[in-house]
Amino acid sequence: MTRTMIGIAELEAGLIEDLVDRADNLEQKLSSGLRRLGGLEGTLITTAFFEPSTRTRLSFETAGRWLGAEVLTFNPATSSTVKGESLEDTARTLASIGTDLFVVRHTDDSAPSRFADASDRPVISGGAGITTHPTQTLADLLTIRRYFGRIEGLRIGIVGDVAHSRVAAGLISALPRLGALLHLIGPPGLLPGPADAATLARTHELDPSLPELDVVYLLRVQVERGTDTGYRSEEEYAADYGMTMARVGSLPAGAVVMHPGPMIRGVEISDEVADHPRCLATRQVAMGVPARMAAMLWCLGGETR
Ligand code: NCD
Repeated sequence: MTRTMIGIAELEAGLIEDLVDRADNLEQKLSSGLRRLGGLEGTLITTAFFEPSTRTRLSFETAGRWLGAEVLTFNPATSSTVKGESLEDTARTLASIGTDLFVVRHTDDSAPSRFADASDRPVISGGAGITTHPTQTLADLLTIRRYFGRIEGLRIGIVGDVAHSRVAAGLISALPRLGALLHLIGPPGLLPGPADAATLARTHELDPSLPELDVVYLLRVQVERGTDTGYRSEEEYAADYGMTMARVGSLPAGAVVMHPGPMIRGVEISDEVADHPRCLATRQVAMGVPARMAAMLWCLGGETR
């Protein structure tokens, strides 16, 4: 049996918790020094990233290797995509070569399901449009659970370009179902419409929220998606929404800062906060490898040793 993982919204809460448990176990093995855990030997995984990526693509490719799969990188910029080959024909071509599982990143929200339909192979979204990025959510849930020992009851503020962030979309879908209390914080044009997030607390002011939060989850302004912050400069935006050490000082003791990367230092996060032990950004990246291993095993039905 094979399965496709497009968005976290399609996964039931119990399954999300199960995937985080599995990722937790895998992470314990990795951090004890084990690497080649196996489970997907003899399978071919192809990453097809039509948008730039550093941590997501490389952690998927690392995850596939630790599971014993062969991993191919499809690079659109040096492929027949530049000659005009369609997404569907590309998917069929890569399936014909023998791909068993695709990881797809694209500006188009529907690209992972289009890839799955055309190739008749399971697909994991590696980030599509503004709606899906399920393994980022799994990595973030594992990071939060490891740090606090729970998710239920935590007060989590998502700050910045919430409306155009697929990372935020995943958190907004998963966290309330796991019992966390969400606050969406950003300028008027950057919060999702009430229909998208009707039951969540929403505010345009960061400072009054800070003493109420256990986690401040910062987002990059998605300039490549045409975001208009409504501010004349990055400095003015940062004055209202940038996380500084002064703002960290307003958080409750034990609260942490998270960021999915890439961080734009000096805009949503200062250098000092980015490099501070209370910023979990590098832990989130580390948790991405076991989270993606858990997702791949779920899609292909494998078990590690
Ligand atoms: C994010 C993405 O691509 O959605 N990055 C990531 O995968 N860690 C966030 C972003 O680009 O702002």
